[in-house]
Amino acid sequence: MNRQDFRFFHRLRVRWAEVDMQKIVFNAHYLMYFDTALADYWRALALPYEEAMHQLGGDLYVKKATVEFNASARMDDRLDVGLRCSRIGNSSMAFTGAIFRGEHLLITCELIYVFADPVTQTSSPVPPLLREILTGYEAGEPMLNIRCGAWSDLGPDAKKIRTHVFIEEQRIPADMEWDEADAAALHAVAYNRLGQPVATGRLMQSAPGVARLGRIAVHKVLRGSGVGRNLMQALLDIAAQRGDRKALLHAQRTAQAFYLGLGFQPHGEPFDDAGIAHIEMSRPLGH
Ligand SMILES: CC(C)(COP(=O)(O)OP(=O)(O)OC[C@H]1O[C@@H](n2cnc3c(N)ncnc32)[C@H](O)[C@@H]1OP(=O)(O)O)[C@@H](O)C(=O)NCCC(=O)NCCS
Repeated sequence: MNRQDFRFFHRLRVRWAEVDMQKIVFNAHYLMYFDTALADYWRALALPYEEAMHQLGGDLYVKKATVEFNASARMDDRLDVGLRCSRIGNSSMAFTGAIFRGEHLLITCELIYVFADPVTQTSSPVPPLLREILTGYEAGEPMLNIRCGAWSDLGPDAKKIRTHVFIEEQRIPADMEWDEADAAALHAVAYNRLGQPVATGRLMQSAPGVARLGRIAVHKVLRGSGVGRNLMQALLDIAAQRGDRKALLHAQRTAQAFYLGLGFQPHGEPFDDAGIAHIEMSRPLGH
């Protein structure tokens, strides 16, 4: 088994609490590493685990876990945990995992999960949609479908995400969150392959040739897996295609690094909006 056998990797660093007297990782921790990687794997599939399983009408239970130890990981090692769905049976699915330090294969595992009804604890067939998502991901298919349209079309789904992120999580007053710009803006909503909305944002025009982006929000569980970048790219592409030469936004300071990574530069002084520190950022568009 080598790195090329995996398209999904979870990165981690061995911590003090995970090593024994010989400064090597205590064997039981490797299962924890694989489990942590699996949580990230669902994120890569754009599935917020709990909501996804709820919609699919079941849950996954570990039936069997086998671990093979080839070499030990040590304190402070940076490890890559590769994971792939290697087989889907009737009600079971197998994941193959491998832990690498650089190119060096340390540990391998096989995890067998069973799809089951959480109330009766009886197994049931893996839903066809979940099967398609897993095989699609392993085949390199996109996990997100980004739709762009008017508030009248996408408003209900955009509203769901913005309510969770801005009103419930960030405590922005509802009367500040909803404004008349929504009706005129172009909205983008990213859907996972279960059709669940997982991210949103809006595009306006603040002056001729100047795109103004805002209300960028990603489902909390899926953050850090590239959803925000994909959504921003879709909005920036639309702005460039319609001939805008510049894009600007008011970034929350905590998201500044996210926008920097998308080519935006800050300017001016930070300012307060709805009790949250912001800074204006912009980037050129087109050629
Ligand atoms: C900010 C937000 C939209 C980013 O979306 P996301 O899906 O988590 O971002 P991605 O996974 O696409 O990240 C793309 C890159 O930005 C980095 N990044 C994302 N959020 C970051 C943050 N808050 N600070 C530093 N870096 C960040 C990621 O690590 C990743 O870096 P990489 O390219 O080196 O791997 C999302 O975290 C969010 O909804 N936050 C709450 C609402 C909010 O703050 N909205 C912004 C209002 S201006």
